[in-house]
Amino acid sequence: MNSKNIILSIAIALISLVLFLNCGDKSEKPAETTPAPTAETASALSPELQKGQEIFLQNCSSCHGEKGAGDGAAAASLNPKPRNYKSPASQWKNGNTEAGVLKTLNNGIPNSPMVAYKFLGDENLKLLAKYVVHLSQN
Ligand code: HEC
Repeated sequence: MNSKNIILSIAIALISLVLFLNCGDKSEKPAETTPAPTAETASALSPELQKGQEIFLQNCSSCHGEKGAGDGAAAASLNPKPRNYKSPASQWKNGNTEAGVLKTLNNGIPNSPMVAYKFLGDENLKLLAKYVVHLSQN
């Protein structure tokens, strides 16, 4: 083998290696495109609960936390603390039913950072109430 052939062999070996590594890269791509985990995998929720979740994440999770555990970013500085939706019904002022949550959303809780959300409109409040009840049970 002359030196030209040796260089050629090395070049071929390197190109094969690069192709091989590229292949490996491609097979890992699908992992990157899987959606970032949210509060819950969207597919597990009915369309109605998905919409409720969307409104909740936009308006409520800053205080109540993504899962409604009362641990949102703003919670630490609040008094009283945001309700943990998993807490027993006896600790809720208006109750953990859809009707109770609707009352809270329409009127707010006096003397607390929980203000009324009437401005979101009846349809959205209904979706929110369903989602809060869902979070309280899941
Ligand atoms: C600024 C922070 C903040 C935001 C934003 C917020 N809340 Fe609250 N929420 C609270 C606090 C604090 C309480 C506890 C009030 C109390 O115990 O008197 C509370 C209580 C509640 C309760 C329990 C009421 C009961 O019966 O005891 C529900 C339900 C609720 N919030 C739903 C929501 C929903 C839905 C949203 C979004 C539309 C929302 N909150 C947005 C702070 C917040």
